[in-house]
Amino acid sequence: MSRDWLPFQHPGLIFTPVDYTLSTNPLTIELLNYILMHSMKIQLVTKPLSEITSDYLVVPVFEGIRTDTKIAEIENFLKTEPKFGKLFESQSFIIKDKKVLLLGIGKAEKVTFITLQNWIGAAVKQTQKKAKQITIFFPVITSLTPEEMGEAAAIGAEIASFNPAKDYKSEYEPPKLSTIEILVERAERGYQDGLKKGMIMAEAINLVRRLGDMPANEMTPTYFLNIAEKVAKENKLKITVLDEKQAKKKGMGAFVGVAQGSKEPSFMIALDYKGDIRAQDKWGLIGKGITFDTGGLSLKPESAMHEMKYDMCGAAAVLGAMIVIAKLGVKANITGIMAVTENSPGGGAQRPGDIVKTYAGKTAEILNTDAEGRLVLIDALAYAQKDFKASKLIDLATLTGAVIVALGDFYTGVMGNNTEFTQQLITTGNKLGEKMWELPMDDEFNEMIKSEIADITNLGHGGSHRSSAGTITGAKFIEAGVENNTPWIHLDIAGTAWDMKPKPYRGAGATGVGVKTLVELISKS
Ligand code: BES
Ligand code: ZN
Ligand code: MN
Repeated sequence: MSRDWLPFQHPGLIFTPVDYTLSTNPLTIELLNYILMHSMKIQLVTKPLSEITSDYLVVPVFEGIRTDTKIAEIENFLKTEPKFGKLFESQSFIIKDKKVLLLGIGKAEKVTFITLQNWIGAAVKQTQKKAKQITIFFPVITSLTPEEMGEAAAIGAEIASFNPAKDYKSEYEPPKLSTIEILVERAERGYQDGLKKGMIMAEAINLVRRLGDMPANEMTPTYFLNIAEKVAKENKLKITVLDEKQAKKKGMGAFVGVAQGSKEPSFMIALDYKGDIRAQDKWGLIGKGITFDTGGLSLKPESAMHEMKYDMCGAAAVLGAMIVIAKLGVKANITGIMAVTENSPGGGAQRPGDIVKTYAGKTAEILNTDAEGRLVLIDALAYAQKDFKASKLIDLATLTGAVIVALGDFYTGVMGNNTEFTQQLITTGNKLGEKMWELPMDDEFNEMIKSEIADITNLGHGGSHRSSAGTITGAKFIEAGVENNTPWIHLDIAGTAWDMKPKPYRGAGATGVGVKTLVELISKS
């Protein structure tokens, strides 16, 4: 691991500056009248220390690797702290007229895409209140391509600089930081391409985070529809919208059953992207869009019910992925379906014991109105197959509390009917830092969603213990809507879609999980 290109070590060397200026895509600003803290520029530069105009510099330190920076203050410090360099470990200096932040990045062999993304995020989060412009010395990471490094950097910087969960504070002070210089030895084309891609990706992820963090009195199904319409227009996607009446007429009994309990109008939204006229496959991305989940008549206990504003993060992730795919011009054909409604116990609400007919044709007995995600998804999945001829399906949903019991906050639960497809997705997610873990889907579990009086029931049962594989039975119910063994993956993002603990690289709130993995998987397939 050589860091000998660092200008600190070559104070006399002159690099030609590069004018790769990338400014933030105005999407969120336009859509959400949201400006204050989101006008960052990321510039790739090569220049000697003497020409750096930023008053704040961030320098990476690997754990266990020491090269001579020729700067006495730093050298003295590193000598007294031989172990310094753990990820996010930091130390500030003032050297001449500049502030310098030494920021640990961990052991070189452990650095991956997500390490770099989060490291840049931490650099931005620590400096954004203190400086208008910072210069980040880009660490050399041999296991990543320049393009991957650029992408990780842009995503990390943009996510850290955007804190949508704080928007509603009247006296919120927006960060000062507006320009980030990424200092590299040679301005390779790959860095620039990666930064561009990362900016587009981050912009979509931030939109997803913003929609998730918005309270449910503002982020209603109608609001979501408005955003989807604007996205469709801006990206030339075909949009098809079914309102409740039209969904009912089509036969989406499960979706309508959930929708009928709320006075908010509900929508089944489809966005169609055609990026490859010759492709045989048609992707179907399906998202759970419950703008608030009270549980319905099977009312949730009050503790943490407010977090159920995040129950639309699956649908938002689908929207985000469609944006990136369209902006990058990915060669694929995709339909994104978002089942958007509120789960409320209004006077018209469905009851435990009701039986509905799904769009796939099966009848379903409602035993718990709080298991509403699988109900809207089973119809959305059938919609993707019947009406849009989708031949490869991925659904994303904050489906079960049980997945948090099983996998905690760190892993998305993955279930599917096609090993190769599932493995491909898991590998893609893990590479980008969206960790995935597969749960079993053996035939035995089918017993657990059988109903005495209908084809299936929405509440898993029949195990010999009180709590019975809740995440898997949820997936099994959704699978009942998959026709002809079409390859299908279900992602239970209940544990990963939001995080109330602030991180060194990101504020508390929605994470935007799923966007990176979906885009990468479809781009590389
Ligand atoms: N949206 C919830 C799942 C959830 C709960 C996500 C907590 C994140 C945190 C979902 O609609 C739900 O209520 N699931 C029930 C299913 C049960 C009734 C079979 C659950 O997990 O308790
Ligand atoms: Zn829910
Ligand atoms: Mn629920």
